[in-house]
Amino acid sequence: MEEVVFSSCFEGLVPSRPVEHLGKVDLSFSGKLHNPLIINEDGGESGCGGKVWIAGELLCEYLLEKSDNKHLLAGSFPGRNFGRVLELGSGTGLVGLCVGLINQANTYAEGQVFISDIDNLMSLMESNIKVNALDGAVHAEVLWWGTPLPDIFVTNPVDLVLAADCVYLEAAFPLLEKTLLDLTDGDQPPVILMTYKKRRKADKHFFQKIKKNFEVVEIKDFKKFDLYLKQRTHLFELIRQK
Ligand SMILES: C[S@@+](CC[C@H](N)C(=O)[O-])C[C@H]1O[C@@H](n2cnc3c(N)ncnc32)[C@H](O)[C@@H]1O
Repeated sequence: MEEVVFSSCFEGLVPSRPVEHLGKVDLSFSGKLHNPLIINEDGGESGCGGKVWIAGELLCEYLLEKSDNKHLLAGSFPGRNFGRVLELGSGTGLVGLCVGLINQANTYAEGQVFISDIDNLMSLMESNIKVNALDGAVHAEVLWWGTPLPDIFVTNPVDLVLAADCVYLEAAFPLLEKTLLDLTDGDQPPVILMTYKKRRKADKHFFQKIKKNFEVVEIKDFKKFDLYLKQRTHLFELIRQK
C-alpha cells in the first residue's frame, strides 16, 4: 500500500498558525478541565499535526460539554460505554489526551485511549502523554490511513472513533475512507465523531463519497455551535450503513 505523506499540509491553502503556536500551551477549556491539558507544539516541524487546530479544539469542547463526572459522552449517548477510544490523525494528541483527562476525572472510567498518526508524530504525541501524566491511560500508535488496521484494533474493536481536521487533501480521501470502513466492519460499529474545517470546495467529494456507506449527521446542539460556525468548523457523526 502506498503511503501518502502530507507534511506540508495546507501550504498555500490557509495561513500558518501564528508563531505563538510554538512551544507549550495550557488548555483548560474555560475551566472545564480542572487540570489543564498541556500540549507541546513543534510549530509544524513534524508535519501539520505538530500544532493544535481549531477543529481539534471544537471536538474537545464537545466532549467536555457532553460528559459528566461518571461517563464519557453521557449527555449524547446515555447508557453507552466508550471503554476503548481511538483518535485518527491526532497530531499533537490534543483530542485523545482530553478524553484521557475526562476519563481520569470520571468515577467509573477504566477506559483506554489510543492516539494515532503517521510515524513522524510519534515522539511529539509521546511527549504530550508524559507531560499530562497520562502514561498507561493514553497510548500512541502508528496508524497510516488506508493500510491494514493494527491488530489491537482488530482483535479488540474500539467503541468510539474521533477525527479532527482529517479531511483536507483529496489524495488522502480514499485512504481515510478505507480506515473508517475497516473500523466499522463489525456487528457493533463504533460511534464516529468527526470535526471538519471547511477550506476548499473539493472537500465535498469526501463527504459525497462516504455517503454511500455512512449517514453523515451534523451535530448542532452544543453551546459554542455559532462561534465555530463563524470559523466554518463543523461537527459530524458518521453512522455506518450496512
Ligand atoms: C490538520 S492535522 C490535525 C491534527 C489534530 N487532529 C488537530 O485537530 O489538531 C491532520 C493530521 O492528519 C494526519 N495525517 C495526514 N495524512 C495521514 C495518513 N495518510 N495517515 C494517518 N494520518 C495522516 C497528519 O499527520 C496530521 O496530524
